[in-house]
Amino acid sequence: MQSLTLSNGRPIPQLGYGVYTMTSEEVERCLPEAIAAGYTHIDTANAYFNEVAVGRAIRESGARREDLFVTTKLFPQSYPYEQCGPDIDASLERLGLGYVDLMLFHQPYGDYVSGWRAMEEAVRAGKARAIGLSNFPLHKVDQILEVATIKPSVFQVEINPYWNQHEYKAALASRGLEGAVFEGWYPLGHGDKGLLAEPLFQELAEKHRKTPAQVVLRWHLQEGNVVFPTTRSAEHLRENLDVFDFELTADEMARVNALPQRPYYVVPEDAPDFVLTHNDYSKQA
Ligand SMILES: NC(=O)c1ccc[n+]([C@@H]2O[C@H](COP(=O)([O-])OP(=O)(O)OC[C@H]3O[C@@H](n4cnc5c(N)ncnc54)[C@H](OP(=O)(O)O)[C@@H]3O)[C@@H](O)[C@H]2O)c1
Repeated sequence: MQSLTLSNGRPIPQLGYGVYTMTSEEVERCLPEAIAAGYTHIDTANAYFNEVAVGRAIRESGARREDLFVTTKLFPQSYPYEQCGPDIDASLERLGLGYVDLMLFHQPYGDYVSGWRAMEEAVRAGKARAIGLSNFPLHKVDQILEVATIKPSVFQVEINPYWNQHEYKAALASRGLEGAVFEGWYPLGHGDKGLLAEPLFQELAEKHRKTPAQVVLRWHLQEGNVVFPTTRSAEHLRENLDVFDFELTADEMARVNALPQRPYYVVPEDAPDFVLTHNDYSKQA
């Protein structure tokens, strides 16, 4: 598995397995198969309500903890400093893996400024090896940078060929975060057939004897993104891993990067309802 290096010096596998929208039953069915197929990076969140199942599936997989990279995320209800430490501990307890390789603030709302101190304490206590932000617009990243003694090392945002985030990446580099790692959600367009049916990906798939999904994943790897496509299909699970034996040319990368840009989801300035109503992560099978 190809890896990037985080600012803490540790490797982060560039291709992983995401479990958003998966029930605990689906996680217990699919995750062991993913680990057996060679996935070593798993992305979950307290708001996915499947941390317990993720931890159980990992422990039962027989994989060594140190060979896996596990991420979880906190929703805004957990951010106020007094709440953040206990909620980090609660996630660790649900996962039952001792520590997480990466802990993220999931959504850019609420008291993320005071909570960041608890995230730093989690790093110092060995509970989280790295910390970062998901879906944070630049002005909210700046608020964190003003108080941070440990800077966010990972930014998880929507990235796919229709929203390549070149401007966001450049803006963070100009803030002294050139070593930051970017993780892309909706890497394959969240199941939108339109992205994979894009004629350019059909053409490149034929040329490289790969599928359009593999071409898109190859683009991500060459862009330096970390991605963890979700799949419940054993065939897609293997297909998505089989992207290390071909390369897109510089001209092909440029053609992908010339596609018109539009995000699937625009992160609102104020918290949307689905953020405000999420709670009680203890209710997990
Ligand atoms: N931080 C955030 O706010 C945030 C938001 C969204 C997602 N995420 C993370 O990103 C991960 C991925 O996001 P996502 O699941 O929303 O989007 P995605 O990975 O882009 O899309 C998943 C969809 O693609 C299909 N698919 C997977 N492999 C395929 C292949 N080889 N060929 C054709 N179709 C394929 C899957 O269907 P099949 O099951 O049929 O394969 C599923 O419908 C999540 O699990 C989560 O970890 C984070």
